[in-house]
Amino acid sequence: MIAQLRGFIVVLVLSTVWPISAISAPSQDVEVLHWWTSGSEAKAVQVIKQMMENQGVHWQDFAVPGGAGESAMTVLKSRAISGNPPAAAQIKGPALQEWASLGFLTNLDGVAKAQLWDQRIPALINKDMKYHGHYVAVPVNIHRINWLWINSAIFAKAHAEIPKTWEQFFTVAEKIKQAGYPVLAQGNQDWQTTTVFESIALSQLGAKGYRQAFIEHLPQVLTSPAMVHSFALLQKMRPYIVHPENHQSWNRATAEVIHNQAAMQIIGDWANGEFLLAHEKMGKDIRCVPVPGTAHQFIYSVDSFAMFQLSEPNDIKAQQRLAHTIMSPELQARFNKIKGSIPVRSDIKLTGFDACSLKSERAFKRSLKTHSAVPSVAHGMATTSYVQGAILDVVTNFFNTPDASPKEASEKLMRAILAAS
Ligand code: BGC
Repeated sequence: MIAQLRGFIVVLVLSTVWPISAISAPSQDVEVLHWWTSGSEAKAVQVIKQMMENQGVHWQDFAVPGGAGESAMTVLKSRAISGNPPAAAQIKGPALQEWASLGFLTNLDGVAKAQLWDQRIPALINKDMKYHGHYVAVPVNIHRINWLWINSAIFAKAHAEIPKTWEQFFTVAEKIKQAGYPVLAQGNQDWQTTTVFESIALSQLGAKGYRQAFIEHLPQVLTSPAMVHSFALLQKMRPYIVHPENHQSWNRATAEVIHNQAAMQIIGDWANGEFLLAHEKMGKDIRCVPVPGTAHQFIYSVDSFAMFQLSEPNDIKAQQRLAHTIMSPELQARFNKIKGSIPVRSDIKLTGFDACSLKSERAFKRSLKTHSAVPSVAHGMATTSYVQGAILDVVTNFFNTPDASPKEASEKLMRAILAAS
């Protein structure tokens, strides 16, 4: 994904036509690119915006709609190529290293030291925020991906039990369908399909096998019977999806669960934000349970903001203030309570958080102890953007070909990953 950009940067640096630093306005403004545009996401953004404005820094909103940030990343690249990146951008996982290696990002060590980030952020997360030992981004939250969201009313009417295994999941899905209720909410977008697939893969491979497949890229694991079975389970889900062809957004799919138009959805807990916004009683009206076979594991997606190099001292101050605000206890609590995620700082008490966030926090802490927290592939936490793109392609093509062979898909996955890595 960044290959094209890398080529361009070489030309840019050699010709020294444009400076890498951004062209900035004289006032205390901070322009922030993000992709948080659903109802709950936008409400959570308001918290950061308001806290910045209270400090006299104008938040210039640069929101690019599109779940998981695919469109936002495209827009960011074109802004960066034209020598005019925003002050800050939502960039996650290994992509931070790609941007830092191109010389775009600024050093946040001063703020990090003052706020003791090294001590307050789990090491697992901290490592992605640093480039050659220096902070280049500030994390804001931890989302859990391997959730199954349940509409309790439909389950009650269909006399369905909460599934703990895949066998139970398909029995329940069939029961709900036979009772005349729509079963599974899902938008047919590559990242949404891969979000489901990675949870299934984790249930089949375990945390160790998941890492061997998606981080170490071991061919024998990528084509293992467990991986083949993961594709088979994904395929088996398709007939239960309410609109399998529909490229609807994730929050439209979540709205189906809210409005009794679907009994279940498999997606990260940004969906929790939408449920909370709709005043659902979490743990009662809507239940959150781990995806079958993943109760002891935690797939994480951490949202973080990278800061771009700027030249105006005022802009730099505003940027440092943003980093400081994001990591403040007040923002960590207020933002995450709306977003459905948990604070990235381990010293924040979850007072007033909903039942599903509390469950997430417990699961995260447990998974750290048992070495079973793994990074999300679909959300850019596990691998480079090139390999991520290759995985999204294989999974989506497979899903959109209902009679495709799971075994062939696993071989394609292995070849695609090896070619991209
Ligand atoms: C991000 C979430 C966001 C979701 C849907 C994920 O990649 O981590 O913050 O709500 O995408 O856009």
